[in-house]
Amino acid sequence: MGQKTEPFDERLRELFGADARNEGPLAASGAGRRFFGIDLCRPLNPEQVAFLLDALSQFRIVSIAGQDLEAFSLAHFERFANHWGAPVPHPNNFMRGGKPAQQDGDSDGPFELIPFERRTAAGVNATFPGQLQCLPHESPAVLVVSNFRGERSAAPARVTGGGSWHTDIEYEPLPIYVSMFLAHKSPVARDAPGGNWVQAPDDDKAHPYYEGSDSELMRLRKCLPLNGETAFADTAAAFAALPPTEQAALEQVQLRRRLNEGDQGWLAPLVRTNPRSGIKSLHSPIWASRPRVRPAVEVEGMSAEASRALLDRLEAHVLQPQFRYDHLHAPGDVTLWDNYMTLHNSPPIKSNINSLDDARLLYRLSCKGEPVLSLPRRDPPEWLAAHIPGGYGTPPEIIGIA
Ligand SMILES: [Fe+2]
Repeated sequence: MGQKTEPFDERLRELFGADARNEGPLAASGAGRRFFGIDLCRPLNPEQVAFLLDALSQFRIVSIAGQDLEAFSLAHFERFANHWGAPVPHPNNFMRGGKPAQQDGDSDGPFELIPFERRTAAGVNATFPGQLQCLPHESPAVLVVSNFRGERSAAPARVTGGGSWHTDIEYEPLPIYVSMFLAHKSPVARDAPGGNWVQAPDDDKAHPYYEGSDSELMRLRKCLPLNGETAFADTAAAFAALPPTEQAALEQVQLRRRLNEGDQGWLAPLVRTNPRSGIKSLHSPIWASRPRVRPAVEVEGMSAEASRALLDRLEAHVLQPQFRYDHLHAPGDVTLWDNYMTLHNSPPIKSNINSLDDARLLYRLSCKGEPVLSLPRRDPPEWLAAHIPGGYGTPPEIIGIA
């Protein structure tokens, strides 16, 4: 990886124009590529899409920098996402049977979209009126990620710890393949000790994890970036670093995943082979990536205890510094990651902010299914009904946006 940069650069310029360039790897593990000079306001042709699909299959994390937020809209963003899979509506944006949809419960009941003005994300527009507003959108697939909402208060800002390491929707039979962020605003204040945005939260509690993991694993889990970066771990490089005998053994491992406690669940392979690059990686090598929300997984043929021991050991392997990468978001960057080849985590965040310099505002889209070189996607209605809430498909006016 990283060797044949010249033909790669040439191909990039051939496809996207003389100003297109790239830098990378972004991570010490070899993961990550950042592209410049690719304007996602324009529709992509099949060769351009194939190039980007190949890049993600090689580099696991791809950032397409510098979209002009005066011109680039969330409709352009969703059109782009359609190449990577079918966009998945976020539970914040719809109801089931008249009740809020939830990620952690049954998904029964009729699907009903919540209009933008009634979504919690609408509160984002009340915090810095006239200064910072969400990019306009109605799409249920757009998740607004922010550290402010509602009117500002005089209460002091506070810092909350990061989340738990995970991949997106690994707990469904068809997991999310690609997720992506568009960065609108990143915190620029650096007034915490060490010249960082926030101070590392001082906690020795297991939360959000379960008790009982060893202290080294807990330390690795909680070692998170302090400037609002998204934290990644490269599970392809981590797999490649294992001895061949261990790789061969892990390739036989099947994990039993369940949506809810007591379900029979299904088996999913721990090791995946990327169909484009052939690179092998560990998919969600974590015993309980959503503590108290989803059941812990079991290694098929092992007790619960042995399953945890094996997966805790793998998690500690993957979270070692040489496989970690903290991605700093710059406004206008579209950053994608392959959920089969990475883990990620949200960083400690300052909330109850009063200054725009502390504002963090991102939009997320997540996609399921097969990538396509040309649009519109033609996912069969039965497939959409089985895998995408409400059978949602991006409407033609978004696909056809100028
Ligand atoms: Fe996530």
